[in-house]
Amino acid sequence: MLGLQLFLIVVLCYRVSSLNNGLARTPPMGWMSWTKFYCEIDCVKYPYGCINEDLYKSQADRLAEDGYREAGYVSVHIDDCWMANERAPNGSLLANATRFPSGIPALADYVHQKGLKLGIYEDYGTKTCGGYPGSYGYIEIDAQTFAAWRVDYLKLDGCNIDVEKYPIGYPQMEVALNNTGRSWKSIASIIDYYDKNQDKLIPANKPGQWNDPDMIIVGNTEITEDQSKAQMTIWSIWSAPLIMSNDLRTVTPEFKAILLNPRVIAVDQDPLGIMGRLVAKIGLVSIYVKKMTPCDAYLKICSYAVAVLNKGTRQVTTSFKFNNIGLDYPSGYNILELWDGRKMGRFQPTDTYQAVVPPTGVHFIKATPTTFSRKMGKTPFDF
Ligand SMILES: *[C@@H]1O[C@H](CO)[C@@H](O)[C@H](O)[C@H]1NC(C)=O
Ligand SMILES: *[C@@H]1O[C@H](CO)[C@@H](O)[C@H](O)[C@H]1NC(C)=O
Ligand SMILES: *[C@@H]1O[C@H](CO)[C@@H](O)[C@H](O)[C@H]1NC(C)=O
Repeated sequence: MLGLQLFLIVVLCYRVSSLNNGLARTPPMGWMSWTKFYCEIDCVKYPYGCINEDLYKSQADRLAEDGYREAGYVSVHIDDCWMANERAPNGSLLANATRFPSGIPALADYVHQKGLKLGIYEDYGTKTCGGYPGSYGYIEIDAQTFAAWRVDYLKLDGCNIDVEKYPIGYPQMEVALNNTGRSWKSIASIIDYYDKNQDKLIPANKPGQWNDPDMIIVGNTEITEDQSKAQMTIWSIWSAPLIMSNDLRTVTPEFKAILLNPRVIAVDQDPLGIMGRLVAKIGLVSIYVKKMTPCDAYLKICSYAVAVLNKGTRQVTTSFKFNNIGLDYPSGYNILELWDGRKMGRFQPTDTYQAVVPPTGVHFIKATPTTFSRKMGKTPFDF
């Protein structure tokens, strides 16, 4: 099932083994083919929608030319089904020569010339989820191959390890994401899973290591604008990777604006890298809080992002007091609504805040302390 599939995005780094190596200090942002293009290898029937080098080049073009790169989406990730069916006689992986005639190194060069990074996919089992050669028994040689190809990231999947398992999860996900009701349901089920497991997930999330609730599907017509804002909001509250899986050639302006909202991206990319927490549940409404910068180490205060998520099918008005969700700075907070950038005013911890939340949608705000200590100067964080 989407979101329960375990995978790691490993930042390829061949000399430094420590996790605290200066890489991935904020959640990765980029584009990945899977949720939109799956394992479509029929390039005769789907010339613009199959896994080949043109697909990755054209998505890289859009990232570079349409403002995504400047917003932080800086990587293009090849997913499963890029390989030839067999390894080379010497054991090396090979790209499918029909679909990648220029080869992966040339694709890496193309992507690098656009100021972007290239990610690739493998699986630590005997076969990938799509049935292509896995890295089991070939870890060293595959790492060397990816390095020689100038690839920057590796998504290492977990199919077909220990027992040969038929890859049931992926086709299920494909069907699940294929229509409106179900697409939103798969996002909602990821959120439910994370809510239930947050006590285990929150401590594991920090700069250099990010939980990955799976790809951002905003820009596909299967989900509405409100549902798209909800996915971006909750992923940002979690400090989750923002890896889009859509067709950047056909994303419409409304959805593009959602993907590029600078205030929302700033919550995701906050340098504290804290995974926010579900702090209150009122019926179908959930309230999440994430501590973020700017902070004041002297006063021991920080700012917060607060998301109110409505999983129901009717608009709701939710009221809460800030001190009931942990925001108790006596001088109060300035509240900024993040999706539209509206200033909502100044609130004391005991003031009641009212959020009107659309069906399967969110209200998303940032609460910044109204005053900081003079001692903090211009860099009021770091604790
Ligand atoms: C390359 O992919 C095509 C489908 O696009 C497939 O028919 C062919 O067998 C693959 N070639 C190799 C060497 O795996
Ligand atoms: C293994 O063979 C492939 C295909 O012939 C070649 O491209 C690659 O460089 C070889 N790898 C090594 C380590 O010699
Ligand atoms: C997805 O939906 C389209 C249009 O309804 C349909 O043609 C296609 O077969 C579906 N794909 C899957 C995997 O269910």
